[in-house]
Amino acid sequence: MNAPHTPTTPAQSVFSVRDLWKVFGPKADLVPADPELAALGAAELRERTGCTAAVRDVSFDVKKGEVFVVMGLSGSGKSTLVRCLTRLIEPTSGTISIDGEDVLSMDGGRLRELRRHRASMVFQHFGLLPHRTVLDNIAYGLEIQGVGRGERRERAAEFAAKVGLDGMEQRRPGQLSGGQQQRVGLARALAVDPEVLLFDEPFSALDPLIRRDMQEEVVRLHREEGRTMVFITHDLSEALKLGDRIALMRDGRIVQLGTPEEIVGAPADDYVRDFVRDVPREQVLTVRSAMRPALGDEHESGPALGPGATVHEAIEAVARTGENARVVEDGRCLGVVDQAGLLGVVAGVPVATRKAVA
Ligand SMILES: Nc1ncnc2c1ncn2[C@@H]1O[C@H](COP(=O)(O)OP(=O)(O)O)[C@@H](O)[C@H]1O
Ligand SMILES: [Mg+2]
Repeated sequence: MNAPHTPTTPAQSVFSVRDLWKVFGPKADLVPADPELAALGAAELRERTGCTAAVRDVSFDVKKGEVFVVMGLSGSGKSTLVRCLTRLIEPTSGTISIDGEDVLSMDGGRLRELRRHRASMVFQHFGLLPHRTVLDNIAYGLEIQGVGRGERRERAAEFAAKVGLDGMEQRRPGQLSGGQQQRVGLARALAVDPEVLLFDEPFSALDPLIRRDMQEEVVRLHREEGRTMVFITHDLSEALKLGDRIALMRDGRIVQLGTPEEIVGAPADDYVRDFVRDVPREQVLTVRSAMRPALGDEHESGPALGPGATVHEAIEAVARTGENARVVEDGRCLGVVDQAGLLGVVAGVPVATRKAVA
């Protein structure tokens, strides 16, 4: 198919996925097509057919410039899903497009180009080449692309510096810490200048502090470059920290897709509610969730916060000044947050059931 745009693809989407299934096992393609089989739970499906449905009827768009997080417990289908995007795993049914181009009808050459130039993958264990220097490891993707030696070393040096590896260019992977090895993998993926970076739990094996460093690195790179990222993790706090939007998976399905604030503030079902129960709500929810209309001259006094400020920031402002805070956008007061509203968010009491303060 060479129609570059289908009407179902929103203009600003990089990946557009519809009704995607990946079933492992004998006669896998019969499962999505048969409503009765498709409705079976994991255990029953395995018993009846010997098949595992790793991805079940999943649809979503990855928007240009966003960090799209896929989160879920181990075995929920995250790796299968991300590998389907570039057909490292062949989907059983459904459609996938990148910039409106149908991925499932790409021939071998087009697929190679997709994987080498457009969507590069950062794995948890990305098998750095042990006998090559850091610089040559970073340059590896460029070498595969056929970029000349001089240019690829120059680009590799630039990306080594970008991820904080300057001075280590001539070391071998064995002479690096786990965190530094991750940086090499990150630089290698970045050096090919892909349209989208795919991360499959890249930081899971790292110590907590190094992990936090790497998360901050990803946030910084994203802020500086605005590159589209699909980031897989089983770690909720990592998902909340990195994701513009999060798709929460359970048993191959997306049970909720939304911003961190939507997932924490309005869980779609009991499973999600349970999942996010221990999240410090005040650090995720914004002042909008604590706001009430301004009364009298309230819209003129008290500390001013933007509508994107967190409840945590509002608590700080209210505690510091002893006054209610105003939520201000473009010079206009959208509302007021008082102590009762802020406590209501922390306690998880829905706005509708909060009592007004006398
Ligand atoms: N090649 C395969 N053959 C059969 N089952 C598989 C295969 N790969 C993954 N699965 C199964 O698919 C489900 C999802 O796996 P996976 O995508 O690796 O989950 P996650 O990355 O969320 O841990 C699991 O039940 C797993 O056992
Ligand atoms: Mg996985």
